[in-house]
Amino acid sequence: MTYADHRADHHSGPQTRDSWLEPDDRAQFDLVVNDQPVHVRAPARCTLADALRQQGLIGTRLGCEQGSCGACTVLLDGQPIRSCLTLAVQAEGCTLETVEQAPPSRELHALRRAFHQHGALQCGFCTSGFLMLAVGLLRDEPDATPERVREVLSANLCRCTGGVPILRAVLAAQQELTGGDR
Ligand code: FES
Ligand code: FES
Repeated sequence: MTYADHRADHHSGPQTRDSWLEPDDRAQFDLVVNDQPVHVRAPARCTLADALRQQGLIGTRLGCEQGSCGACTVLLDGQPIRSCLTLAVQAEGCTLETVEQAPPSRELHALRRAFHQHGALQCGFCTSGFLMLAVGLLRDEPDATPERVREVLSANLCRCTGGVPILRAVLAAQQELTGGDR
């Protein structure tokens, strides 16, 4: 993918925050996004979240843009990261997973269904971040205790649904994925 132009949709005012960058201040590199090889051309200071959204992968949300809310969570080489705090160039040569993954992994598929069944979203702004955080958890720690699941989910914020339905949904997905062994 090519980060061709300065982003103008997210910040108003006479200048976007990348507008002082000269064209030759751009980095070019390759990575894999949702199993697809991708070529990125982006300003050196462009965040991973901005680069993804600029290319239409808007399932990755931007909330606080300072690492607090977790709405921008994606998986980088299988590990949940805050894409608002990660430079796009740091993903060079890496494997990236976002909520747009198609077909979804078995964890993402189970989580999507459980979020729907347990009413784990209202406005949905936080949902993609919670889903990717939970995908990473259920893959790395399939036998995580409910206390551990709660602890991991506490990394992200939801301002309208509340944590209980989200916790219930992740535990339900875990039950499904482990065949009810927990
Ligand atoms: S937008 Fe990245 S943590 Fe809030
Ligand atoms: S569903 Fe609205 S912020 Fe979480």
